[in-house]
Amino acid sequence: MDLFEKLKKNRGPIGQHAKDSHGYFTFPKLEGEIGTRMNFRGKERLVWSLNNYLGLANHPEVRKADAEAAAKFGLATPMGARMLSGNSNYHEHLEAELTGFMKKEDTILLNYGYQGMVSAIDCLVDRHDVIVYDSESHACIIDGVRLHMGKRFVFPHNDIANCEKQLERATRIVEETGGSILVITEGVFGMSGDMGKLKDIAALKKKYQFRFFVDDAHGFGTMGKTGAGTGEEQGVQDEIDIYFGTFAKSMALIGGFISSREDVVEYLRYNMRSQIFAKSLPLPIVAGALKRLELLRSQPELKENLWKIVHALQDGLKKAGFNIGKTESPVTPVYMNGSIGEATNLIFDLRENYDIFCSMVVYPVVPKGVIILRLIPTAAHSLDDVKYTIDAFNKAYVKLKAGEYMSDRIAAF
Ligand SMILES: Cc1ncc(COP(=O)(O)O)c(C=O)c1O
Repeated sequence: MDLFEKLKKNRGPIGQHAKDSHGYFTFPKLEGEIGTRMNFRGKERLVWSLNNYLGLANHPEVRKADAEAAAKFGLATPMGARMLSGNSNYHEHLEAELTGFMKKEDTILLNYGYQGMVSAIDCLVDRHDVIVYDSESHACIIDGVRLHMGKRFVFPHNDIANCEKQLERATRIVEETGGSILVITEGVFGMSGDMGKLKDIAALKKKYQFRFFVDDAHGFGTMGKTGAGTGEEQGVQDEIDIYFGTFAKSMALIGGFISSREDVVEYLRYNMRSQIFAKSLPLPIVAGALKRLELLRSQPELKENLWKIVHALQDGLKKAGFNIGKTESPVTPVYMNGSIGEATNLIFDLRENYDIFCSMVVYPVVPKGVIILRLIPTAAHSLDDVKYTIDAFNKAYVKLKAGEYMSDRIAAF
């Protein structure tokens, strides 16, 4: 069969709904300055779907630093991969700042978080090694594991007894191959909002020999006393051998980093294919990251404001009878039961009649019949925003239970 004909027939799990959803449920356009109020289809909406946790995206000092760096350097500089022609004092300075903040020996910048994770996993292990990882890991971990030529063992989400079982199996294998074990999990799981059991996994080091790699995309800047992440939160920062953070969430930018031991970072610098064979981060991004990191470290009130909103939203939703699962982080999923049709009608009602913009997650990302409305509180939201949203959710929930969202879409968009 012709490849293009095959693609026409099988559009993929989400792509099959593209005709009905494009521009509204998928690929919506949020316009205007990043904030809690943005324009969607010509009308201002209250936005709960951006990972701008600390509200840095539109912070006046950030906007000033971004504009000045763009004017000074342009977006092209530096040209080339860092190994050949794209290195700069700014890149190295940002790495040194992150190293100090993360209390590790060294740091490597990544052009993209996703690619960086995939490539780091690919780079760290060979076919003699075994990877043990959590079943609810982000796609970038799954894709990194896919590239692995050796064995991989998955443990059910946060099931530490099973993780130990997989470590036993892995240990037997590496005793034969002469390889090593890499355990990978997340600091904060981005859908459910619960933390990876970093402390429990780290404790297994007493019995098994492995290195511990944590993807803390959602934890960096939001968790821990200083915002250094979930390792700090659980008191096991030293036990994390390889720490990954992205700039795409709390830092409201693009790119990411890995902090680890000096020799490991040097190994990554000279072996990570996504960094060696790709142009380095433009200087305005690096300068912008330095400013954001400075604010993240020097203005603890940003994180305090975030958590004030998180607590108000999560406590309020719980009090109103909503199921928000096991979240322990700002990520706030609201679980409901209903079909995909009901979910789309519910979202439509929230957007059009209450001007609330949040994201929904349905099958195949979660089991059939489950609807998740995913709210991301930020430091920029207000307690009035929280109250208004909980009231609207209450009204929508009554309609959902009464079957009012069961008809074909309430209105065409
Ligand atoms: C857990 C996790 N890891 C990695 C990434 C990828 O980060 P980036 O957006 O910087 O590519 C994300 C972003 O969605 C994430 O949630």
